[in-house]
Amino acid sequence: MNSSGDELPDDETSLRSANALDEILIFGSHETRRRFLKQVAGTGAAFAIGPTLLSIPSIAAEQITGDALNESMHVKLKINGRDYALDVDPRTTLLDLLREQLQLTGSKKGCDHGQCGACTVLVNGRRINSCLTLAVMHDGDEITTIEGLANGEELHPMQSAFVELDGFQCGYCTPGQICSAVALLKENHANSDDEIREWMSGNLCRCGAYPNIVAAIKEARARST
Ligand code: FES
Ligand code: FES
Repeated sequence: MNSSGDELPDDETSLRSANALDEILIFGSHETRRRFLKQVAGTGAAFAIGPTLLSIPSIAAEQITGDALNESMHVKLKINGRDYALDVDPRTTLLDLLREQLQLTGSKKGCDHGQCGACTVLVNGRRINSCLTLAVMHDGDEITTIEGLANGEELHPMQSAFVELDGFQCGYCTPGQICSAVALLKENHANSDDEIREWMSGNLCRCGAYPNIVAAIKEARARST
């Protein structure tokens, strides 16, 4: 146990884990990653993922003053099926908690201002921009990041569709795109190309992989029906 929570590795191990996770990105295991790299050999792509539409309003750090700045708060979260009891600085965003404290670096920090969707995660099944919400606001919530989508070695159908239909180039936006797309299907907002584009508009892709992203989402939708 360390000061961050009861099941976390020590700092040195955390750093090594962070590096490893940076490489693993969305897959959740080294073996799955190896298989993925085989599948995309030649593309040079690494996976990442981005956010969206249903943002929770942010709370400005300036609003938290006085003693609260010096006191951590205790929160319990279920992240990717695992229970965490954590002491968190109340100014910490959910994205920073995931990336900096828990080394779940699949969720990306693009703009850090709710504009790009790279940080999209699912909170109680709802997609949010994790850079716009404070971790302490989520006591008791269930959070799913890109690392939690695969079922062991088996990719989530949306991940498979992105791989098979080249729904990414550099991959930086991809974790957020995939998390967002998973929620999109559950929201029943993928009934046409236009609807997919509209409801995925909170997830930007600087590589312009939009046509293949739409194709991947349609493929995942077809497989789920
Ligand atoms: Fe959160 Fe850009 S990093 S929306
Ligand atoms: Fe490069 Fe989307 S694949 S930013």
